[in-house]
Amino acid sequence: MSLVQLGCTIDLPVEELAARRLRTSGKRRTKATRTSEVINIEDLRRWARSRVPRVVFDYLDGGAEGEVTLQENRRAFDAVTFRPRHAVAISECELRTRVLGIDLAFPALLAPVGYSRLMHPGGEAAAARAAGAAGTGYILSTISCYRVEEVKAVSAGPVWYQLYLLGGRKVAEAAILRAREAGCSALVVTIDTPVAGMRERDPRNGMKELLSGSTFEKLPFLPQLFAHPGWLAAFLLDGGLPKLENVVLPGQGPMPLVDVTAALSHTVVTWDDFKWLRQAWPGPIVAKGVLTGDDARRAVDEGAAAVVVSNHGGRQLDYLSATLRALPEVVAAVNNQVEVLMDGGVRRGTDIVKAICLGARAVLIGRAYAYGLAAAGEAGVSRALQILREDVERTLRLLGCPSVAQLNPSYLDVPAGWLTKSLPD
Ligand SMILES: Cc1cc2nc3c(=O)[nH]c(=O)nc-3n(C[C@H](O)[C@H](O)[C@H](O)COP(=O)(O)O)c2cc1C
Repeated sequence: MSLVQLGCTIDLPVEELAARRLRTSGKRRTKATRTSEVINIEDLRRWARSRVPRVVFDYLDGGAEGEVTLQENRRAFDAVTFRPRHAVAISECELRTRVLGIDLAFPALLAPVGYSRLMHPGGEAAAARAAGAAGTGYILSTISCYRVEEVKAVSAGPVWYQLYLLGGRKVAEAAILRAREAGCSALVVTIDTPVAGMRERDPRNGMKELLSGSTFEKLPFLPQLFAHPGWLAAFLLDGGLPKLENVVLPGQGPMPLVDVTAALSHTVVTWDDFKWLRQAWPGPIVAKGVLTGDDARRAVDEGAAAVVVSNHGGRQLDYLSATLRALPEVVAAVNNQVEVLMDGGVRRGTDIVKAICLGARAVLIGRAYAYGLAAAGEAGVSRALQILREDVERTLRLLGCPSVAQLNPSYLDVPAGWLTKSLPD
């Protein structure tokens, strides 16, 4: 991050600047995130990297194995260019989008991101509050350390609950009931995690040892925490290692935090599970992790109200295709029967506009807001959302398109072969 972006005139390394920024009051930091210091999501990523220990940053930033899919998600956006309509005056630019019957201020929701409270003590509550204030929705992960009731209560926007079968069906049913009673308006069932992907950065940084190892096992990995005293102080003041407040084990209470490999080792969801899920959850069900027309049609047959074209942000099976590349096939396969959302690699408003042109109703953003959370809590998430919203509006105006609803493939040049099946109108 340049000194100009940081609003500094003296010559200091980024780490020191970030540390100084952390020492300033919350009010000043909030103001800072709203200024021109942070211009794009990459600025928030750099700030996050300097604020949190490597084990936390790499968990957030990394992908599976060789991180090929992680990079592919970005490359696919770069491969698509625009076909604008110039000399068009747009007085009002309409960004509002209806997703599962709810109006969103712009077509992006916050994806479920596990372990958010390790990134910042504000965690899921801070992210949900920022989402609501920006007029959009928040999806609470099962791997969350704030109670679903609290998260719903602090957000002015819609909250959905994302389900992993941690602890088995009975535990999941109890969580679903709580989510329903708290007022969550959709259940997101993640179908791409029969086991956790091999995120190679995590074992190198001692994620497992730090979360669930003995003091002796933790020792070699502690220096990275001491190198970030601001984060460490906030973590300790927050009570240290939190628990999974929405995974309540009978007779034991909330499940202790374990690393993601352990968490996802017995949580496979099958299409058969959709039958009992439909009984347990009367509202809309969203199948997250669809990448082919076949799975999309199966989700429709099993009663899903929407699908999310997702490869889990490149964190599960490596060498999956980019989600933007998979999107047209899924959109054609569901043929307007259900809503199609997508995620993976969204870092700019132009990415959001490209996904909408190719048939997504809206996108989910994962890392783009989580960098903001790790950098500056709620203020960082708000800044991420503000950047993306402004990007979308500017892009529409530059394209000569007055509304998100009027975006379509004619605004894009896509590589040959992407649109072999025609998209429904
Ligand atoms: C740190 C992190 C934690 C995640 N945790 C979950 C989770 O608990 N449940 C889930 O369904 N997806 C999870 N995801 C995947 C996101 O919901 C989303 O699919 C992905 O982040 C989209 O890619 P992007 O980060 O490039 O935007 C996680 C992603 C990240 C980066």
